[in-house]
Amino acid sequence: MAEFDLLRFLGRFHPVIVHLPIGFILLLAALEILSRFPRWKAANASAGYILALAVPAAVLAAASGWLLSRGGNYDAALVRLHFWTGLATAAGGLLSGVCYCLGRVAAYRMALFGTVMALVVASHFGGSLTHGRGYLVRHAPPWLRGNPSERLAATAGDAEAEFVALAKPVLDQYCVACHGPEKAKGGLRVDTLAALRAGGDSGPAILPGKPQQSELLRRMRLPLSDDDHMPPEGKPQPEEAAKLQLERWIGEMSPSSSSGVNGP
Ligand code: HEC
Repeated sequence: MAEFDLLRFLGRFHPVIVHLPIGFILLLAALEILSRFPRWKAANASAGYILALAVPAAVLAAASGWLLSRGGNYDAALVRLHFWTGLATAAGGLLSGVCYCLGRVAAYRMALFGTVMALVVASHFGGSLTHGRGYLVRHAPPWLRGNPSERLAATAGDAEAEFVALAKPVLDQYCVACHGPEKAKGGLRVDTLAALRAGGDSGPAILPGKPQQSELLRRMRLPLSDDDHMPPEGKPQPEEAAKLQLERWIGEMSPSSSSGVNGP
């Protein structure tokens, strides 16, 4: 059992809370644009009420994000980018609210526009943190994905984000009770990428690019009755989809990325 930690617990709500101010801010912008058309000129009449919800929501989102960033195992550079753009979004929301209260319509619109810009950038970095860098454009046409050398250079920092997005959820659910901070059966911890690479008593648990030869997966693929099967018989077993996800994760991991480990 992990110990109770209120601040870290609250931080975990960030990915949920953050969608509230996003919705409110985009709604405000949409109403402002609609109100330019004669037919909908009253569209922004309720902006004051929406702002009264949006500003506290934005502040709450920023605060919970800050809490989350302290406990997480995230790509430090991405966290920094997301932190500052997220903070700029919250500050922009606050400024918009102040301008609105003072009745400065033009200033309010400008502040709102700036807030939306900051929001778009902050959300992009936030998405990259949870889903891995380049998640949004992974299946986009090549010209949208940036040039190959840039992609290669990004690989090192990627490794941590990909681990957090693809592998950690499965490992946390099925393995970490025996292979984590509290117990490290077989000398193996699976709660950080570095620990996985270091492996256990019998060597590295993962071989980047070689899922079939990786001890981690080999054990999961053994028949349930085999003594070496993981998780041991009688414990909750991951579904096939989860195993395939780990397989894909190891398969797509580039061997050269082993130096790009950051964070604790
Ligand atoms: C109930 C506890 C338990 C759970 C849950 C569990 N393991 Fe294990 N694991 C062990 C024990 C005990 C050993 C050491 C004995 C052995 O090598 O079989 C071990 C050993 C291992 C080893 C070999 C380490 C080495 O270097 O010798 C790997 C790899 C491994 N486990 C992977 C996993 C994976 C992946 C999961 C989750 C899908 C998992 N384990 C879940 C108890 C557990």
